[in-house]
Amino acid sequence: MLVLGIETSCDETAAAVVEAGRWRESPIPLKMRMLSNIVASQIDVHSKFGGVVPELASRKHMQNIVPVILQALSCAGITLDEVDGIAVTQGPGLVGSLLVGISVAKALAYTRGLPIAGVNHLEAHIYSNYLEHKDLEPPFISLVVSGGHTELVYVGPGERQYEKLGQTMDDAAGEAFDKVAKLLGLGYPGGPIIDKLSKEGDAEAIPFPRPYVWNHSLNFSFSGLKTAVLNYVLREQEKENTVNPADVAASFQAAVVDVLTEKTLRAAEMKEINVIALGGGVAANSALRKQLTQRCEELGYKLYYPTEAIMCTDNAAMIAAVGCSLISGGEDHDLLLDTDVYKTIHTGPIENH
Ligand code: KG4
Ligand code: ZN
Repeated sequence: MLVLGIETSCDETAAAVVEAGRWRESPIPLKMRMLSNIVASQIDVHSKFGGVVPELASRKHMQNIVPVILQALSCAGITLDEVDGIAVTQGPGLVGSLLVGISVAKALAYTRGLPIAGVNHLEAHIYSNYLEHKDLEPPFISLVVSGGHTELVYVGPGERQYEKLGQTMDDAAGEAFDKVAKLLGLGYPGGPIIDKLSKEGDAEAIPFPRPYVWNHSLNFSFSGLKTAVLNYVLREQEKENTVNPADVAASFQAAVVDVLTEKTLRAAEMKEINVIALGGGVAANSALRKQLTQRCEELGYKLYYPTEAIMCTDNAAMIAAVGCSLISGGEDHDLLLDTDVYKTIHTGPIENH
């Protein structure tokens, strides 16, 4: 089975082809193979505004979507005639951006008589791990950390069963990286820039707070930390002290990583699960990977994350991967498929665990 995935939830126009097989008799996960994964980034368009401008994002998607799909097909070495199903991001995301992908997907499904699957973007971030790590199977704990979300999810016991354990109460982790980079005048998107700059800084230079780290919930809060960085910079400027951006970046990053690490490990402990999988753009962060790797080694836990940054950030292969599961299971969301900007991963607590 060949599934064409389409992703346009935010500022990346992406298309990919994933092949799946043996899904009926095979245990979780599906056998899947990525044949192509094309991402047209809009960073150049949005960076001068310091963040994504929704209207510009939609327009750019309209320009890019057809060439990107054609490139995904040609890189996979197939034609549209060989595609067995279409998977498209249904939400969460920017409504104008989502509409572009959904409209194209529905047009393709209609003209080709193909099944169409509307995919939850957050679930897809979890699924990008299955594409690379063939031994990963539920149950596991997933930390989904992106520009729009920070969620701790119990995945299992079966495939596509989820229980949301915690989420951010305000800013997402990636959003905090982006906003701190903006206030330091470092550019957009902030995550990769702060990650790189932090390597030249002292992570212990400034004792920024670790918000929520010791409270009992598995929720997160990053907006106070962002304000703490702003206050620090303003205070130092008032005192006419030089602010070292590398030290600020490294100290801020260390605070975020400490919180994400502690909460993820606590979730694993609570659920008595020793397998963890990261997903979303912030899963590309080198400090987060390093700290969680170290802690997981100490605890005898298994840690998974998509090795390549392109598989952490938004891509269509992860959308196609969920699509393989949905379509092979007989789902067809037909042409009534619509955007769901507030789509969430929550499907209710799982019994018997
Ligand atoms: O998953 P993603 O591409 O889009 C959303 O679904 O939101 O995540 C984008 C976010 C941005 O906030 C970006 O700054 C952050 O992921 N990001 C990183 C890194 N690479 C991307 N954050 C920290 N360190 C990184 N290396
Ligand atoms: Zn994403």
